[in-house]
Amino acid sequence: MQTPQELELDQDREELQSYLLDHPDDFVTHILQFNEMLARYRAASQEITTKLEILRNDFNTRQYRNPIESIQTRIKRPASIVGKMKARGMDITLESIEKELNDIAGIRVVCSFIDDIYMVAEKLLAQDDLRLIRVKDYIKNPKPNGYRSYHMVVEVPVFFLDSKQPMRVEIQLRTVAMDFWASLEHEMKYKKQIKNSAVISEELRRCAETIAETDEKMLELRRQIEAE
Ligand code: GTP
Ligand code: MG
Repeated sequence: MQTPQELELDQDREELQSYLLDHPDDFVTHILQFNEMLARYRAASQEITTKLEILRNDFNTRQYRNPIESIQTRIKRPASIVGKMKARGMDITLESIEKELNDIAGIRVVCSFIDDIYMVAEKLLAQDDLRLIRVKDYIKNPKPNGYRSYHMVVEVPVFFLDSKQPMRVEIQLRTVAMDFWASLEHEMKYKKQIKNSAVISEELRRCAETIAETDEKMLELRRQIEAE
């Protein structure tokens, strides 16, 4: 038995569906399709997050150590999606958005030590349903401003009601220390929209270097302790 509210909802749904069939180019149709697209990226993000959590738990059980401190996910905001497409001079259609953007679904994995980053990346990529699309190793090759992180774009198949779709997800792996620098630098650079002077930029780059040295030192210390 359906409640009166449920009956009403069903009627709404039917009305909406017949409206959409009659008006395929209506903006409501586009909004719904856009939302469906975002939901597919959310599902892809869930697939990867689950893989990461399974790896974390397995490692933790066997080595009594946490290689992953935190996992954050975000779906790109509609305004950012549109802004990026415009900046690249691309048409704004669902098809072109999906083809052009690799980072609609973004996952940030904050690791404890530098070697954890490479271990997690390797164990993910060893999984035969994942396809590597692109890697940018800003740890081996830091950006001129000092930014360090390991970026990968992967493609994961996701099973929906009536289809299986390969979805792309951007994964950023970094240590707690790299995350500390990147968060503060982002805060200062983007949010306040301040044009950094050359002196400040140089200071920031030096901070990144000091942090990188500390990361190396911490790894060395952990290895010494493990060898004892
Ligand atoms: P965009 O996403 O358009 O930047 O192009 P891309 O995917 O080629 O860029 P890239 O892989 O170099 O970096 C994408 C993401 O990494 C950004 O959205 C940020 O989250 C992060 N990132 C890159 N460079 C910096 C930086 O200098 N500072 C900080 N804080 N984050 C950065
Ligand atoms: Mg990006």
